[in-house]
Amino acid sequence: MTTSTAFASVSALVRRETSMVYDEGKEYLVEARLNPLAAARGLGLEEYVARLAFDADERRKVVDALTINETSWFRDHTPYQAFTDAMLPALLERRQITRRLRIWSAACSSGQEAYSIAMLLDQHLPPGWSYEIVATDISTAMLERVRAGRYSQVEVNRGLPATSLVRYFTRVGRDWEITERLRERVTVKHLNLAAPYVGLGSFDVIWLRNVLIYFEAATKQDILRRMLPMLADDGYLLLGSSETTLDMPADLAAAWQREQIGRVPTYRRASAARSLTPSLTSTGA
Ligand SMILES: C[S@@+](CC[C@H](N)C(=O)[O-])C[C@H]1O[C@@H](n2cnc3c(N)ncnc32)[C@H](O)[C@@H]1O
Repeated sequence: MTTSTAFASVSALVRRETSMVYDEGKEYLVEARLNPLAAARGLGLEEYVARLAFDADERRKVVDALTINETSWFRDHTPYQAFTDAMLPALLERRQITRRLRIWSAACSSGQEAYSIAMLLDQHLPPGWSYEIVATDISTAMLERVRAGRYSQVEVNRGLPATSLVRYFTRVGRDWEITERLRERVTVKHLNLAAPYVGLGSFDVIWLRNVLIYFEAATKQDILRRMLPMLADDGYLLLGSSETTLDMPADLAAAWQREQIGRVPTYRRASAARSLTPSLTSTGA
């Protein structure tokens, strides 16, 4: 990028709109991602950046271009195993009356996480049960992809078992489209995790994976505080493999009771921890 002022202005914009931190040293990345947008407008990079101040549409494109959307099917595998083997049986036991589960894929990217969960629920929920997966993200481009439910060959090659491809997808041109039966269970919503969570209801399991890493400590803490009432008393929160509450202030780390399921740390509301299923080993916060 030609001037550090332009970089500072883009980095401030991304921080204001997403809370993501783009530190100095990331100039090359910003430049690589914004150059095509500037070129599409017939502008140089600096002119383009100056235009952002009064062009909301382009600001949205910049946010879309600078979010990191890396994801895959059944990412890391073990959280999905823990979901099927321990969380789901416990929830089936406790939701006999309503026979309904609500799951939140917070920061869903292009939807692989939400649809991986949908496949498991499709396979493991007994007849007569229903479920809703709410998939949220700040990137409108990603949300369109979740709605479309279409994936390239390269994307389906990343973690999707062949049996699931056959069972849940149809070929559309060179892409693969996920079945309507799963798509209709996924509610797609635009949501900034750093802003208030309004009208979402409460969830049995929250997947908040591989997004806290992009925020500074105060934002992470604020998000984890506001996640507490979003989770059912006996629900589960899952973080990414490099994310934890252990480095949080004592009151927050204590509010999220860490409970190990096999190799997977899950987090539960401490206020409800005393009444939890005895088969799961609590390691404390
Ligand atoms: C690396 S992806 C993680 C996707 C998925 N959870 C996974 O683990 O595979 C991070 C996602 O967080 C989203 N994101 C970044 N800042 C956000 C914010 N403030 N609010 C909501 N989503 C955000 C990005 O758009 C991106 O899709």
